[in-house]
Amino acid sequence: MDLFAHRIIPIVVIHDAEDAYPLARTLVEAGLPIAEVTFRTEAAAESIAIMSEVEGMTVGAGTVVTPDQVEFAVESGAQFLISPGLRADIVREAQLQGKPILPGCITPGDIMAAQALGINTVKFFPADRFGGPEGIAGLSAPFATTQFVPTGGVSASNMAGYLRLPCVPAVAGSWMVPQHLLETGDFDGIAALVREALGIVASLG
Ligand code: 3PG
Repeated sequence: MDLFAHRIIPIVVIHDAEDAYPLARTLVEAGLPIAEVTFRTEAAAESIAIMSEVEGMTVGAGTVVTPDQVEFAVESGAQFLISPGLRADIVREAQLQGKPILPGCITPGDIMAAQALGINTVKFFPADRFGGPEGIAGLSAPFATTQFVPTGGVSASNMAGYLRLPCVPAVAGSWMVPQHLLETGDFDGIAALVREALGIVASLG
């Protein structure tokens, strides 16, 4: 399983689990069969379970902030985990469950603590507030083996700047699945945003 094969991970906030199946189908058909479903809503676990059943989909859980949520997410079908920050007990639980985890890291100390836990790929969040691509370039200088997945404020208009950095295997963000399109059932609109993002990746060569 290569989480970064497409260089983009859509972040989705699902309030109604009925949206999970059509959303997963839309992502598969648009050519981006991966999603981080945030553990911020009542519908998250059920949505992960539904989306995981769609052939070809890789589904992870985001906004994981306790070790219990790691266990619950994995039971629901999550194949990877993303946390906004770094907590050793959360990382260890994910490792115990045999699932990759991207903890949020924003300082050199965070990265060193992640390294001590055997983590070399981290979420850089909130990327726009911490210097954007220049912030990552500066932070990465002493950490040649660390890879960064910027999240927070990433969009079609700035994703290329991140993806051009050698230490950035992928970006993640919610811009491809905006709430208003999900709530109005505009899956064609979501597919168009996904295709636009994939086109930007393709243009990078
Ligand atoms: C996250 O859950 O990682 C962030 O809230 C996503 O940030 P975005 O909505 O700006 O993409």
